[in-house]
Amino acid sequence: EKSKETELSRLFFTYQGIPYPVTMCTSETFQALDAFEARSDDIVIASYPKCGSNWILHIVSELIFAASKKKYTCPEFPVLECGDTEKYQRMKLFPSPRILTTHLHYDKLPQSVFKEKVKILVIFRNPKDTAVSFFHFHNDVPDIPSYASWDEFFRQFIKGQVSWGSYFDFAINWNKYIDDENVKFILYEDLKENLVAGIKQISEFLGFSLTDEQIQAISDQSTFQAMRENSQETHGAIGPFLFRKGEVGDWKNLFNETQNQEMDERFKECLAGTSLGGKLKY
Ligand code: A3P
Repeated sequence: EKSKETELSRLFFTYQGIPYPVTMCTSETFQALDAFEARSDDIVIASYPKCGSNWILHIVSELIFAASKKKYTCPEFPVLECGDTEKYQRMKLFPSPRILTTHLHYDKLPQSVFKEKVKILVIFRNPKDTAVSFFHFHNDVPDIPSYASWDEFFRQFIKGQVSWGSYFDFAINWNKYIDDENVKFILYEDLKENLVAGIKQISEFLGFSLTDEQIQAISDQSTFQAMRENSQETHGAIGPFLFRKGEVGDWKNLFNETQNQEMDERFKECLAGTSLGGKLKY
């Protein structure tokens, strides 16, 4: 029996206008992040929470392994902005290529990322499935605060009063850079439809030249089923929660018609006519 309560005001602290979970981020770490020294061969994976960053992280590590036989291991919690203030000092010792995942807006990434022209993969997922995945994550994982109901979570999600703030603000910000040379847009729904083609595109963007057989082998290991089966080994106790369902359209199980219309309205208001708006499968 869970004895968790929703005490929203205590869950977040606001840094530069965005709410972050107090259990994972601190303003001191954000300040230390400003001085982070990116390397030109770092790889950034950016996403709003629950859009599939662990999926892309897995694919990129497999690509690195296939291309160089270097087993990618990350001795730190992979999300760049989470951790203690000494994290970025320790990261100086990590071998290249380093993979940096982040839920930050493009404008809030450390300046060295742009100076070094670091390649950035940004993964998007339709906001309805993202919200549902985020809700389940809060309510399934024992150590993080849960919401009293889906309706309550939905209200907070629409207001952007959830960890890492508003999906739409994140999308509006990234939209400005989505067609940049160093930015590769990936869509969760496209990967679900054709994993081999998606992996091939990622591989080409990162400059690897792998055979069709190698790409196929990576695809076989990157299906939802394969990743879920190995999830406890790869991600520990949280594994089965991270690899929950892995489907497109799960929102239909929780959204009512009013919520559906409200989300459609927000989407139109924020992204209609934009480059990103045209790319999202919505
Ligand atoms: P669901 O909760 O809808 O199942 P993140 O890694 O950014 O936290 O995103 C987690 C979401 O990505 C979860 O969505 C998870 O199941 C899904 N996911 C992870 N690996 C996947 C894969 N190989 N194929 C499809 N979906 C995957």
